Amino acid sequence: MNAGFREAVKEWYAELACKPMPEACETPMIKVKIVEEEGFEEDSGDPAKPVNVLDDPDQLWTEDDWNGDKEKEALGRIDKQGPDAPKFWTNKYIDKAPQYWKAFYNRNKDNFYKDRHYLHIVFPDLAPAPAPEEGEREKADTRILPPLRLLEVGCGVGNAVFPLIEINPRLHAHAFDCASSAVDLVHEHIASAALGDRLSASVCDLVREEAPVPPGSMDFVLCMYVLSAIAPSAHADCFRKLTGTLKPGGRLLLRDYALYDEAQLRFNKGSKLFDNFYVRQDGTCAYYFSTEDMERLAVSSGMKIVENYYIRRQYANRAKKQARYRIWLHAILEKL
Ligand SMILES: C[S@@+](CC[C@H](N)C(=O)[O-])C[C@H]1O[C@@H](n2cnc3c(N)ncnc32)[C@H](O)[C@@H]1O
Repeated sequence: MNAGFREAVKEWYAELACKPMPEACETPMIKVKIVEEEGFEEDSGDPAKPVNVLDDPDQLWTEDDWNGDKEKEALGRIDKQGPDAPKFWTNKYIDKAPQYWKAFYNRNKDNFYKDRHYLHIVFPDLAPAPAPEEGEREKADTRILPPLRLLEVGCGVGNAVFPLIEINPRLHAHAFDCASSAVDLVHEHIASAALGDRLSASVCDLVREEAPVPPGSMDFVLCMYVLSAIAPSAHADCFRKLTGTLKPGGRLLLRDYALYDEAQLRFNKGSKLFDNFYVRQDGTCAYYFSTEDMERLAVSSGMKIVENYYIRRQYANRAKKQARYRIWLHAILEKL
């Protein structure tokens, strides 16, 4: 490291109130308060609408509205997060992302994310065919529906794909993740539940490799909180690769972290790598999407937008008498 650069990194360390910078330029231990991002069930319930979730003791969450004041406050909090981290560290977090995720699953095993039992509701394309009417039953018994091919990107330990395979017998899926420790757990689960005829899994880093299925073979691609783990400079290329796996008319189904989510606003100084892209304490990264980002990605990959909107919710933390404000992005894109 040259002297000027070393001084800059030292300053950055001092700002973060970290231990002294090690001589060897290893990954710094950034003091970022970990925000538990997936502790909430994004169910599809339909609660009544009090203005503040804390006003109604029976309410776990409610829809949240958005207004200019909230945006102003969000921008102020982002401004206080200070300058972007030095390029050296940013590049390191991006280059070593699969290693950080591997370590994440070695530590957490399958105890971090909850099973996502709501996906067939929020993405009705993945729902099982409706039960036949009384008079139709005989016809339906002889009707053979073709399998639906699903590719899950960044599957982690399978919190999305296992509930889907369980609920919809037409689904045949391949799931992949860049973290071999996560894929090992998926393989164990496939074997113990004897799902090998409908589900397979592999290790693949979408940034550095092509998707692990033949081009034009998939009906659906599912991306649950995975593109946010990838640097925005690689998003367009990832979209191109994923679009390539879809049949014409196939759909990309996506939910991810969105701009001004409270988890974004709670990052401390020093954790912003660049605009809307942050590193957590454990070295994994998170990007916060806007609907405009999604529009750009759809255009660049030649996809038609079917749905693209924010989900804004207030969650009650009654113990702390606080409301948590969460924002996600929901999108469905279709290959032309
Ligand atoms: C926030 S977790 C979400 C896990 C899972 N989709 C879920 O919703 O429970 C992000 C996942 O993306 C995976 N991931 C990150 N970068 C990836 C890449 N370049 N290629 C494939 N998977 C990646 C991580 O290993 C991690 O499992």
